[in-house]
Amino acid sequence: MTESRIMVSPITELFGAEIAGMDLGSADDATVATVEDLLLRHRVLTLRGQSLTDQQLVAVSTKLGRLDIPAANPYGEPFHKANPEINVISNIMEGDKPAGNLGAGEAVWHADMTYQETPPRAAILYALEVPPEGGNTYFADMYAAYETLPDDVKAQLEGKVAIHDASHNSAGMLRKGYNEVTDVRETPGARHPLARINPKTGRKALFLGRRPRSYIPGLSVEDSDALLDQLWAHAAQPEFAICHEWRAGDVLMWSNLEVLHRRDSFDSNTRRRMHRTQIRTFWSETKAAA
Ligand code: OGA
Ligand code: MN
Repeated sequence: MTESRIMVSPITELFGAEIAGMDLGSADDATVATVEDLLLRHRVLTLRGQSLTDQQLVAVSTKLGRLDIPAANPYGEPFHKANPEINVISNIMEGDKPAGNLGAGEAVWHADMTYQETPPRAAILYALEVPPEGGNTYFADMYAAYETLPDDVKAQLEGKVAIHDASHNSAGMLRKGYNEVTDVRETPGARHPLARINPKTGRKALFLGRRPRSYIPGLSVEDSDALLDQLWAHAAQPEFAICHEWRAGDVLMWSNLEVLHRRDSFDSNTRRRMHRTQIRTFWSETKAAA
């Protein structure tokens, strides 16, 4: 695949790009470098009509960077036993066991696995089966969200961190090994700055993770809730968001630290199956740090 045949069509003025002419199944080093560059510039990439085996999905992901193994799911075992680095996002039941995470309900706005000290840099989500309707996935640009905050709110964020809840997934299910949180000051999970600079672009993103059980240490619970509610109301405005209507064979890639995403519910009697990898760090970042 030569780079000159790749077509990049921006989705909105803010962010997102539809990429045509790229076959991820046969991605070489040059293609992978292009993907990384496009992710840095557009934050969300959509590719239609891909045909990937699990091995090819893992191969292109591994060319981009070091992978994160999905966290323990609510049922205590990897969903994808042959490729544990693949997270299965599905409502399908295999016998009496779910084939994947998140069921058929809504997944609230979130970034992936930010409860870790080093959250994944990027994610790749590949659609194998999609329902006839519903289950759309939305992204919101957190550079734009930060940049449009009033100056006094930006000033309030300086030096502040938030706790990113590790105890529940984005569908609200308690993860294996965690107890219900009764006081947000004790929410388990990593603490990250509310405004995060991307060292490569120099731009600041609002970095919220997910709203339920979040807390800003140093503030009273009341003040923390008030500031978080204000930030979330701002970040979740439709003007910062794009919507993806899935077809089987679609691949979505996103820059996990600069966008939030959420998913609509869909009819639980229909089938939806996605395979996801998560890239903890790009190899280029590892080399830059060495
Ligand atoms: C994810 C996720 C959204 C979807 O894979 O991280 O949130 O569309 N999935 O299923
Ligand atoms: Mn997610």
